[in-house]
Amino acid sequence: MSPGTDGFPGPDEAGELSREEAEDVVGELREEVRRHDHLYYVENEPEISDAEYDRLFVALETIEDRFPELATDDSPTRRVGAPPRDEFPTVEHVAPMLSLEATRERDDVDRWVGRVREAAGEDASFLLEPKLDGASVELVYEDGRLERGATRGDGREGEEITDNVRTIGSVPLVLREEDREAPSLLAVRGEAIFFLPDFQELNRSLMERDEEPFANPRNAAAGSLRQLDSRVTAGRPLHLLAYEVLNAGDLDLESDSEALEALDDWGFRLPEGIDTAADADGIAEYHGRWGERRDELDYEIDGVVVKLDQHAPREALGSTARHPRWALAFKFEPRREETRVEDIAVSVGRTGKLTPVALLRPVEVGGVTVARASLHNREEVERKDVRVGDRVRIQRAGDVIPEVVERLKEPGRKREPPFSMPGTCPACGADVERDGPLDLCPNRFECPAQLKRRIQHYAARGALDIEGVGEETADLLVERGLVESLADLYRLEAGDLEELEGFAETSAERLISEIRDSREPALRRFLYGLGIPEVGEAVARDLADHFGSLEAVREADEDALQEVPGVGPKMAAKIRDFFEDPRDREAIDELLEAGVDVREAEETGTDLLEGLTFVFTGALERWTRDEARELVESNGGRAASSVSSETDYVVVGEDPGQKADDAEEEGVETLDEDGFTDLLEEKGVEP
Ligand code: IVH
Repeated sequence: MSPGTDGFPGPDEAGELSREEAEDVVGELREEVRRHDHLYYVENEPEISDAEYDRLFVALETIEDRFPELATDDSPTRRVGAPPRDEFPTVEHVAPMLSLEATRERDDVDRWVGRVREAAGEDASFLLEPKLDGASVELVYEDGRLERGATRGDGREGEEITDNVRTIGSVPLVLREEDREAPSLLAVRGEAIFFLPDFQELNRSLMERDEEPFANPRNAAAGSLRQLDSRVTAGRPLHLLAYEVLNAGDLDLESDSEALEALDDWGFRLPEGIDTAADADGIAEYHGRWGERRDELDYEIDGVVVKLDQHAPREALGSTARHPRWALAFKFEPRREETRVEDIAVSVGRTGKLTPVALLRPVEVGGVTVARASLHNREEVERKDVRVGDRVRIQRAGDVIPEVVERLKEPGRKREPPFSMPGTCPACGADVERDGPLDLCPNRFECPAQLKRRIQHYAARGALDIEGVGEETADLLVERGLVESLADLYRLEAGDLEELEGFAETSAERLISEIRDSREPALRRFLYGLGIPEVGEAVARDLADHFGSLEAVREADEDALQEVPGVGPKMAAKIRDFFEDPRDREAIDELLEAGVDVREAEETGTDLLEGLTFVFTGALERWTRDEARELVESNGGRAASSVSSETDYVVVGEDPGQKADDAEEEGVETLDEDGFTDLLEEKGVEP
């Protein structure tokens, strides 16, 4: 028999308790584990060691296993995940989950404060919070118990992910009522986030298994929340920071300060650094302070959120379709750092594009170590005149792969000769062809670098989703001559893989079974996986929806292709060229012969943007303009080429053209890229 912590039974003892003894102790034991969970995950001040905690936890588990009728749904032992689901049902939010109007300009803040003051009077004060860069979640409690967790979705409806949020240590399964009673209904909004060290560890372990890493902590959080197997989520160290009471039933909360106090009492973890300000200067000071301190935090913040603290005047201010007028996101500039270029390498992508990459002296940019940065293409290198040995400023805007912003002048320092792009492909030696600012390896079918990236793309998440075929494995498979075409993947045997570095018997078998499981892809995934020029995930989906079968897409002529929303003449010609090239045809036939059985498409297009007309001007970071148009059209919206009174939104990117001025003249609402992304998010469109 082993003594438990503070008079509680230890695991061995728990295994020997009689039913009555167990019933006597189980409630208090559960309370005790809950208290330590709160101390650890929320207060960040554990009172006992991990080993002591484990003893309590295992004792509780033992009792609940032995006497299942003594187990409860809200027991802390239920945080370990539930059996996998087939899909997430859609649920309507208790109150709409709006998004935030965002700006980087102090002037906008002044104007916003002015408008709020007009409605709320001079006594208005402003609540300030860091803007967490994660995934927004709704938690619903009934009579103090967690009943439901949901993703934000389109703001009105989201996906029900209760099993997954349950696994997050800082989500109370039962509200604490020591200092404040719980209302019968409580809906809370918070942000699920990854701490940076955990994010790096997750990516490291994904890459070790040669799975695709996440581009940033936000994607890692969103991806982890949407795992159909909540046991996977349970293994991901997510945190939930709560910042809004969406609905507290009959309870009257008069201000956000009060709501946050209540959330704290009920056992939620709040963001660090919550503060208040009386005016725009105070807001700017807070923004400046956290802009400087953001690196001290363990998680990413991309700005600060300002909210009118008092609830009563919020109603008068109201909301636009997308965001409340009583809140504003005041965002930071993208993170920048300086370092030195140690070398410039040229990588060859899936489509043969040669990309110059600066290999850097490693530098930390907001908690992420950066050792490579893109120089995009020949023209960019020439324009920025970056050479080996130069000092450069790099920038990371949310994603882990950063870019070189500019070269820093160092007068008097002797520089290396200018960098010039190679005349032949570094991977296969073919003569490079130029196309505007781009350099291309034309050796589409024999270049080993293109093949490696084609395989990696075919196996990626949005394509055939073959876990375990990432960059490294794709490289190895090609270098060892095991795979010379996509179809060769399906001919691999476990024995072939066991020879490769990093593979053992089980991992080899796992990969073979992953490959086997990918044999019946949805049409849209297959089309995307083929790597047809210009065909991203959105176009692949549209093609699949429009034509329904692989045969129909393959045989469609240019006119037929152009009937697909978002496919213009140029893209239609490229798609046609691809399907007409005998070698591409052969590659597809080979895949079909190797046993790939492409499923026909179900209706997957949406009408989420129906009735809305967009005009795009200037460069966007996330999409090419064509992709943005396709995205709009495949979701039922219209993408027009010029601004008119019919236009609902003009999306303004970097270096916009005349259309931005036209928008002003026509009085059409303009959106920057973030605003556009928010709008998509709000409408439930997956960007
Ligand atoms: S309040 C109506 N507060 O930023 C106000 N949002 O659109 C609702 N976010 O999707 C949001 N930190 O997920 C609020 N302290 C904070 C936040 C925050 C991050 C997210 C939220 C939203 C996005 C902006």
